[in-house]
Amino acid sequence: MQGMKVASNMAILVMLAASTQIFAETITRGDAAKGQQIATQVCAGCHNADGNSVIPTNPSLAGQHAEYTTKQLMNFKAQDGKPASRNSPIMGAMVMALSPDDMKNLGAYYAQQTPKPRGAKDKSLAQQGEKVYRGGNIDASVPACASCHSPNGAGIPPVYPRIAGQHAEYTLAQLRAFRKEERTNDNNQVMHMIATHMSEKEMQAVAEFISGLR
Ligand code: HEC
Ligand code: HEC
Repeated sequence: MQGMKVASNMAILVMLAASTQIFAETITRGDAAKGQQIATQVCAGCHNADGNSVIPTNPSLAGQHAEYTTKQLMNFKAQDGKPASRNSPIMGAMVMALSPDDMKNLGAYYAQQTPKPRGAKDKSLAQQGEKVYRGGNIDASVPACASCHSPNGAGIPPVYPRIAGQHAEYTLAQLRAFRKEERTNDNNQVMHMIATHMSEKEMQAVAEFISGLR
Protein backbone atom coordinates (compact mmCIF):
# COMPACT_ATOMS: atom_id res chain seq x y z
CA MET A 1 0.00 0.00 0.00
CA GLN A 2 2.75 2.37 1.05
CA GLY A 3 4.55 1.65 -2.18
CA MET A 4 1.44 2.46 -4.23
CA LYS A 5 0.98 5.79 -2.49
CA VAL A 6 4.58 6.75 -3.24
CA ALA A 7 4.07 5.68 -6.83
CA SER A 8 0.91 7.77 -7.28
CA ASN A 9 2.58 10.79 -5.68
CA MET A 10 5.42 10.32 -8.11
CA ALA A 11 2.97 10.21 -11.00
CA ILE A 12 1.43 13.51 -9.89
CA LEU A 13 4.89 15.08 -9.60
CA VAL A 14 5.77 13.92 -13.09
CA MET A 15 2.51 15.35 -14.45
CA LEU A 16 3.12 18.65 -12.69
CA ALA A 17 6.64 18.83 -14.04
CA ALA A 18 5.35 18.08 -17.53
CA SER A 19 2.65 20.77 -17.38
CA THR A 20 5.04 23.49 -16.16
CA GLN A 21 7.38 22.43 -18.94
CA ILE A 22 4.62 22.89 -21.53
CA PHE A 23 3.73 26.25 -19.99
CA ALA A 24 7.35 27.40 -20.04
CA GLU A 25 7.60 26.42 -23.69
CA THR A 26 4.46 28.25 -24.76
CA ILE A 27 5.72 31.49 -23.26
CA THR A 28 9.27 31.27 -24.57
CA ARG A 29 8.74 29.74 -28.00
CA GLY A 30 8.10 32.07 -30.90
CA ASP A 31 5.14 31.96 -33.26
CA ALA A 32 6.37 30.48 -36.54
CA ALA A 33 3.33 31.67 -38.51
CA LYS A 34 4.01 35.29 -37.53
CA GLY A 35 7.69 34.77 -38.29
CA GLN A 36 6.79 33.48 -41.75
CA GLN A 37 5.02 36.75 -42.63
CA ILE A 38 8.15 38.81 -41.97
CA ALA A 39 10.40 36.19 -43.58
CA THR A 40 8.31 36.29 -46.78
CA GLN A 41 7.97 40.07 -46.94
CA VAL A 42 11.41 41.20 -45.79
CA CYS A 43 14.00 38.41 -45.72
CA ALA A 44 13.17 36.13 -48.67
CA GLY A 45 15.00 38.22 -51.27
CA CYS A 46 18.34 37.38 -49.66
CA HIS A 47 17.75 34.19 -47.63
CA ASN A 48 15.04 32.60 -49.83
CA ALA A 49 11.48 32.05 -48.63
CA ASP A 50 12.33 28.76 -46.87
CA GLY A 51 15.70 29.99 -45.56
CA ASN A 52 17.77 27.93 -48.03
CA SER A 53 19.81 30.80 -49.44
CA VAL A 54 21.05 30.42 -53.01
CA ILE A 55 23.57 33.30 -52.75
CA PRO A 56 26.93 32.16 -51.30
CA THR A 57 27.56 35.28 -49.20
CA ASN A 58 24.09 35.10 -47.60
CA PRO A 59 23.81 32.34 -45.00
CA SER A 60 21.21 29.62 -45.11
CA LEU A 61 18.92 29.83 -42.08
CA ALA A 62 16.77 26.72 -42.67
CA GLY A 63 16.90 24.25 -39.80
CA GLN A 64 18.93 26.55 -37.58
CA HIS A 65 18.06 26.38 -33.86
CA ALA A 66 15.56 29.05 -32.91
CA GLU A 67 17.62 30.32 -29.96
CA TYR A 68 20.71 30.88 -32.10
CA THR A 69 18.82 32.75 -34.84
CA THR A 70 17.09 34.97 -32.28
CA LYS A 71 20.41 35.68 -30.56
CA GLN A 72 22.06 36.70 -33.83
CA LEU A 73 19.21 39.09 -34.66
CA MET A 74 19.61 40.68 -31.22
CA ASN A 75 23.39 40.88 -31.66
CA PHE A 76 23.07 42.73 -35.01
CA LYS A 77 21.31 45.55 -33.16
CA ALA A 78 23.18 48.31 -31.34
CA GLN A 79 21.66 48.56 -27.86
CA ASP A 80 21.86 50.87 -24.86
CA GLY A 81 24.41 53.05 -26.62
CA LYS A 82 26.71 50.05 -27.17
CA PRO A 83 27.71 49.09 -30.72
CA ALA A 84 26.38 45.82 -32.11
CA SER A 85 28.51 42.82 -31.08
CA ARG A 86 27.96 41.41 -34.56
CA ASN A 87 28.67 44.08 -37.11
CA SER A 88 26.94 43.89 -40.50
CA PRO A 89 25.72 47.02 -42.29
CA ILE A 90 23.09 44.98 -44.17
CA MET A 91 21.71 43.03 -41.20
CA GLY A 92 22.10 46.05 -38.93
CA ALA A 93 19.61 47.85 -41.17
CA MET A 94 17.32 44.80 -41.32
CA VAL A 95 16.92 44.42 -37.54
CA MET A 96 16.14 48.10 -36.90
CA ALA A 97 12.41 47.55 -37.30
CA LEU A 98 12.26 44.15 -35.53
CA SER A 99 10.90 43.82 -31.98
CA PRO A 100 12.18 41.11 -29.58
CA ASP A 101 8.99 39.14 -30.32
CA ASP A 102 9.58 39.40 -34.08
CA MET A 103 13.08 37.99 -33.52
CA LYS A 104 11.67 35.04 -31.55
CA ASN A 105 9.03 34.40 -34.19
CA LEU A 106 11.62 34.45 -36.98
CA GLY A 107 13.80 32.03 -35.00
CA ALA A 108 10.82 29.66 -34.67
CA TYR A 109 10.00 29.92 -38.38
CA TYR A 110 13.47 29.12 -39.72
CA ALA A 111 13.94 26.27 -37.20
CA GLN A 112 10.94 24.54 -38.83
CA GLN A 113 12.31 24.77 -42.38
CA THR A 114 14.14 21.81 -43.87
CA PRO A 115 17.76 22.49 -44.80
CA LYS A 116 18.65 21.44 -48.37
CA PRO A 117 21.87 19.44 -48.52
CA ARG A 118 24.68 20.87 -50.63
CA GLY A 119 27.73 19.10 -52.03
CA ALA A 120 31.32 20.25 -51.52
CA LYS A 121 32.73 21.56 -54.83
CA ASP A 122 36.41 20.70 -54.24
CA LYS A 123 36.63 17.12 -52.93
CA SER A 124 40.34 17.07 -52.10
CA LEU A 125 40.11 20.37 -50.20
CA ALA A 126 37.07 18.99 -48.36
CA GLN A 127 39.07 15.88 -47.36
CA GLN A 128 41.73 18.08 -45.74
CA GLY A 129 38.95 19.97 -44.00
CA GLU A 130 37.38 16.79 -42.67
CA LYS A 131 40.57 16.08 -40.67
CA VAL A 132 40.29 19.47 -38.95
CA TYR A 133 36.55 19.08 -38.43
CA ARG A 134 36.80 15.65 -36.81
CA GLY A 135 40.24 15.73 -35.15
CA GLY A 136 41.31 19.37 -34.94
CA ASN A 137 45.02 20.19 -35.26
CA ILE A 138 46.71 19.15 -32.02
CA ASP A 139 50.06 20.82 -32.87
CA ALA A 140 48.36 24.19 -33.38
CA SER A 141 45.86 23.79 -30.46
CA VAL A 142 42.85 23.75 -32.78
CA PRO A 143 40.04 21.68 -31.21
CA ALA A 144 37.81 19.38 -33.27
CA CYS A 145 34.84 21.35 -34.58
CA ALA A 146 32.73 18.20 -34.12
CA SER A 147 33.06 18.44 -30.33
CA CYS A 148 30.80 21.51 -30.20
CA HIS A 149 29.03 21.55 -33.58
CA SER A 150 28.41 17.75 -33.40
CA PRO A 151 29.75 15.09 -35.78
CA ASN A 152 27.05 15.76 -38.42
CA GLY A 153 27.19 19.54 -38.05
CA ALA A 154 23.67 19.82 -36.63
CA GLY A 155 25.03 21.70 -33.61
CA ILE A 156 23.80 21.42 -30.04
CA PRO A 157 21.00 23.82 -29.06
CA PRO A 158 20.75 26.35 -27.63
CA VAL A 159 24.40 27.50 -27.76
CA TYR A 160 26.21 25.68 -30.59
CA PRO A 161 24.79 26.52 -34.00
CA ARG A 162 24.06 24.19 -36.86
CA ILE A 163 26.78 24.68 -39.52
CA ALA A 164 26.24 21.64 -41.80
CA GLY A 165 25.56 22.46 -45.46
CA GLN A 166 26.33 26.16 -45.07
CA HIS A 167 27.84 28.03 -48.06
CA ALA A 168 31.66 27.75 -47.87
CA GLU A 169 32.05 31.45 -48.74
CA TYR A 170 29.92 32.48 -45.75
CA THR A 171 31.62 30.07 -43.30
CA LEU A 172 35.06 31.27 -44.39
CA ALA A 173 34.01 34.92 -43.99
CA GLN A 174 32.80 34.20 -40.43
CA LEU A 175 36.02 32.41 -39.44
CA ARG A 176 38.02 35.40 -40.71
CA ALA A 177 35.70 37.82 -38.87
CA PHE A 178 36.10 35.89 -35.60
CA ARG A 179 39.89 35.91 -36.03
CA LYS A 180 40.02 39.66 -36.69
CA GLU A 181 37.46 40.32 -33.93
CA GLU A 182 35.10 41.95 -36.39
CA ARG A 183 32.55 39.51 -34.97
CA THR A 184 32.67 39.47 -31.17
CA ASN A 185 29.36 37.90 -30.17
CA ASP A 186 30.83 34.44 -29.44
CA ASN A 187 30.57 33.57 -25.75
CA ASN A 188 33.95 33.85 -23.97
CA GLN A 189 35.59 34.50 -27.35
CA VAL A 190 35.52 30.77 -28.04
CA MET A 191 35.48 31.10 -31.83
CA HIS A 192 38.03 33.93 -31.73
CA MET A 193 40.52 31.72 -29.85
CA ILE A 194 39.97 28.84 -32.26
CA ALA A 195 40.22 31.00 -35.40
CA THR A 196 43.48 32.66 -34.28
CA HIS A 197 45.09 29.20 -34.13
CA MET A 198 43.96 28.25 -37.64
CA SER A 199 45.85 28.87 -40.86
CA GLU A 200 44.07 30.45 -43.84
CA LYS A 201 44.38 27.11 -45.66
CA GLU A 202 42.75 25.22 -42.76
CA MET A 203 39.88 27.69 -42.73
CA GLN A 204 39.29 27.27 -46.46
CA ALA A 205 39.47 23.48 -46.18
CA VAL A 206 37.13 23.17 -43.19
CA ALA A 207 34.63 25.61 -44.78
CA GLU A 208 34.62 23.46 -47.94
CA PHE A 209 34.07 20.27 -45.90
CA ILE A 210 31.22 21.84 -43.88
CA SER A 211 29.39 22.85 -47.08
CA GLY A 212 29.00 19.17 -47.99
CA LEU A 213 28.36 17.92 -44.44
CA ARG A 214 24.90 16.54 -43.68
C1 HEC B 1 19.93 42.46 -48.52
C2 HEC B 1 20.13 41.09 -48.16
C3 HEC B 1 19.58 40.61 -46.82
C4 HEC B 1 18.31 40.73 -46.33
C5 HEC B 1 17.10 41.41 -46.98
C6 HEC B 1 18.30 40.01 -45.06
N1 HEC B 1 19.53 39.48 -44.80
FE1 HEC B 1 20.06 38.36 -43.18
N2 HEC B 1 21.99 38.31 -43.81
C7 HEC B 1 22.46 38.89 -44.97
C8 HEC B 1 23.92 38.79 -45.00
C9 HEC B 1 24.85 39.31 -46.09
C10 HEC B 1 24.30 38.13 -43.80
C11 HEC B 1 25.72 37.83 -43.31
C12 HEC B 1 26.13 38.94 -42.36
C13 HEC B 1 27.55 38.83 -41.89
O1 HEC B 1 28.44 39.03 -42.70
O2 HEC B 1 27.76 38.55 -40.71
C14 HEC B 1 23.06 37.81 -43.09
C15 HEC B 1 23.01 37.14 -41.87
C16 HEC B 1 21.84 36.80 -41.21
C17 HEC B 1 21.76 35.99 -40.02
C18 HEC B 1 22.92 35.30 -39.29
C19 HEC B 1 22.93 33.83 -39.69
C20 HEC B 1 23.96 32.99 -38.98
O3 HEC B 1 24.12 31.84 -39.38
O4 HEC B 1 24.62 33.46 -38.05
C21 HEC B 1 20.44 35.90 -39.68
C22 HEC B 1 19.84 35.16 -38.50
C23 HEC B 1 19.69 36.67 -40.67
N3 HEC B 1 20.57 37.20 -41.59
C24 HEC B 1 18.31 36.82 -40.65
C25 HEC B 1 17.62 37.68 -41.50
C26 HEC B 1 16.24 38.02 -41.33
C27 HEC B 1 15.34 37.45 -40.24
C28 HEC B 1 15.91 38.91 -42.31
C29 HEC B 1 14.59 39.61 -42.54
C30 HEC B 1 14.07 40.40 -41.43
C31 HEC B 1 17.11 39.11 -43.11
N4 HEC B 1 18.12 38.36 -42.58
C32 HEC B 1 17.19 39.92 -44.22
C33 HEC B 1 21.70 39.48 -45.95
C34 HEC B 1 20.36 39.83 -45.84
C1 HEC C 1 34.23 24.91 -27.67
C2 HEC C 1 33.11 24.91 -28.59
C3 HEC C 1 33.36 25.20 -30.06
C4 HEC C 1 34.27 24.59 -30.90
C5 HEC C 1 35.29 23.51 -30.57
C6 HEC C 1 34.04 25.16 -32.21
N1 HEC C 1 33.04 26.08 -32.16
FE1 HEC C 1 32.30 27.16 -33.74
N2 HEC C 1 31.00 28.14 -32.49
C7 HEC C 1 30.89 27.93 -31.14
C8 HEC C 1 29.85 28.80 -30.60
C9 HEC C 1 29.40 28.90 -29.15
C10 HEC C 1 29.36 29.56 -31.69
C11 HEC C 1 28.21 30.59 -31.67
C12 HEC C 1 28.70 31.99 -31.41
C13 HEC C 1 27.51 32.97 -31.34
O1 HEC C 1 26.71 32.85 -30.42
O2 HEC C 1 27.36 33.78 -32.26
C14 HEC C 1 30.10 29.12 -32.86
C15 HEC C 1 29.92 29.63 -34.13
C16 HEC C 1 30.57 29.19 -35.26
C17 HEC C 1 30.35 29.68 -36.60
C18 HEC C 1 29.35 30.75 -37.02
C19 HEC C 1 28.11 30.07 -37.58
C20 HEC C 1 27.18 31.02 -38.29
O3 HEC C 1 26.13 30.54 -38.75
O4 HEC C 1 27.48 32.21 -38.42
C21 HEC C 1 31.17 28.99 -37.44
C22 HEC C 1 31.30 29.13 -38.94
C23 HEC C 1 31.94 28.05 -36.62
N3 HEC C 1 31.55 28.21 -35.30
C24 HEC C 1 32.88 27.18 -37.12
C25 HEC C 1 33.67 26.34 -36.34
C26 HEC C 1 34.75 25.54 -36.86
C27 HEC C 1 35.15 25.46 -38.32
C28 HEC C 1 35.30 24.88 -35.79
C29 HEC C 1 36.50 23.95 -35.78
C30 HEC C 1 37.75 24.46 -36.32
C31 HEC C 1 34.54 25.28 -34.60
N4 HEC C 1 33.56 26.17 -34.98
C32 HEC C 1 34.78 24.82 -33.33
C33 HEC C 1 31.60 26.99 -30.39
C34 HEC C 1 32.59 26.15 -30.87
